[in-house]
Amino acid sequence: MQKKNILVTGGAGFIGSHLLRYFVNKYAGFEFINLDKLTYAGNLENLKDLEKKNNYHFIKGCITDTALVNKIFKSYSIDNIIHLAAESHVDKSITDPQKFVKTNVIGTINLLECFRNNIKNNFVGKFYHVSTDEVYGSLGKSGFFTENHCYNPNSPYSASKASSDHFVRAYSKTYGIPYIISNCSNNYGSHQFPEKLIPLVIYNVMNNIEIPVYGDGSNIRDWIYVNDHIEAIDIIFNSEKINETYNIGGGCESNNLDLVYNICSILDTRLGRKNDISKNLIRFVTDRLGHDFRYAIDSSKIKRDFGWSPKKSLFEGLEDTVDWYIENHEWFQNIKSGSYKNYYLKKSIK
Ligand code: NAD
Ligand code: DAU
Repeated sequence: MQKKNILVTGGAGFIGSHLLRYFVNKYAGFEFINLDKLTYAGNLENLKDLEKKNNYHFIKGCITDTALVNKIFKSYSIDNIIHLAAESHVDKSITDPQKFVKTNVIGTINLLECFRNNIKNNFVGKFYHVSTDEVYGSLGKSGFFTENHCYNPNSPYSASKASSDHFVRAYSKTYGIPYIISNCSNNYGSHQFPEKLIPLVIYNVMNNIEIPVYGDGSNIRDWIYVNDHIEAIDIIFNSEKINETYNIGGGCESNNLDLVYNICSILDTRLGRKNDISKNLIRFVTDRLGHDFRYAIDSSKIKRDFGWSPKKSLFEGLEDTVDWYIENHEWFQNIKSGSYKNYYLKKSIK
C-alpha cells in the first residue's frame, strides 16, 4: 500500500484513541499526526501505549487554528485527514450550542480550507469525516436510516454535525476534494468519557450513585462496539472509494431502561452483589429537551461494498466493557479528579 501521512483530529478522545491504537500498530509504514485540543474529553492517558512509536506524533492545538493546521500540513506533508475532533455530547449542546458551532462547523471548514490549499496536483488522498446517525433525526418504532434518508437533525449537536457533513460534500463538489463520510450509531467500549450513558451507569453503580434515566427510559439506540466501528473505518478509508457516504450500525437495538438493567445485572454478578440490588439506584428524571426517540441503522451498503458487519453482540460487548472499567477503575478516578491533565503537564515539561 502507498505510504500515507495522515492527520487524525480528536485522537485523544474515545473513538479517536481506539482508531489510533489500531491504525498506528497495523500501518507501521504510515505517519499519524494527532491534532487534539485536549478539551475535558481529550485524555492522553488513552494513548500511553503509543508514545514510543516512531510513526505517531501528538500536537496539542485547535482545529480552528488556520496557521497551525497549515503548518502541520507543510511540516508532515499531510495527504489524508481522518477528522474526529468534535464537541460530542448532546446534553452539553443543549446548554452551550455555540461551542458546537465553533468546533464542529467552523473547525471542519478550517480543515477543509487547509486541505484545499495544501494538496498538490497529483494528489491521491481523501478527507474522511467521522459523523453520526443523529443527522437523520429520529425514527418511530419501525424503519431504518439508509444513506438516502433525508437530513433532519433535532439537537444543536446533530445540527452542527449535519452542517459539517454538508460542507464536506460542498467542498468536494465545488473544489474537487475527495471525501468519505461515515454516519455511525452509538459507540461504547473502554476509555469513554463518563458523561455518555454506558460509562456513566457503570461509574455510578460502582460507586453507589443514583442512575438518571431520562423520561421513561423507552428511547432506543443502536449500539456498536467501538472496535467494530474502527474496523469499518479502516476498510472504507484504505479502499479506493471516494465521494461516498456509508452508514455504520451495530445492529443491536435496545431501549435505555433495558440497557441499564443489563449493565446493573452484569455489575451485580461481577461485584458479588445479591438480589439485583444495583437496579434500586435507577431514578427517572426530567427528559432531555427534543429527545430523539429511536435510531436504527441500515448497514447494507457497507456490507455489500466491503463485506463488513459488526462482530460483537451487545451483551458480550457490555460484559467486556464492564470488565475493562472494573480492571481500570483508576482511569475513572483520574478523570473525576482531573489528574490525567497533570499527566499531560508532566510529559510536556521535559
Ligand atoms: P470525544 O468527545 O470522546 O472526543 C472528542 C475529541 O476531540 C477530544 O479528544 C477533544 O479533546 C477533541 N476536540 C474537541 N474540540 C476540539 C478542537 N476544537 N480542536 C481539536 N480537538 C478538539 O468524542 P468521540 O465520542 O470519540 O467522537 C469522535 C467523533 O465521532 C465525533 O466527531 C463524533 O461526532 C463522532 N461520533 C461519535 C459517536 C459516539 O457514539 N461517540 C457516534 C458517531 C459519531
Ligand atoms: O448516535 C450517535 C451519537 O450517540 C453520537 O453522535 C454522540 O456523539 C453520542 O454522544 C451518542 O449520542 P446520544 O445522545 O444517543 O448518547 P448518550 O450516551 O448521551 O445517551 C444515550 C441515551 O441515553 C439517550 O437516549 C439519552 C439517554 N440518557 C443519557 C444520559 C447521559 C439517559 O437516560 N441518562 C443519562 O444520564
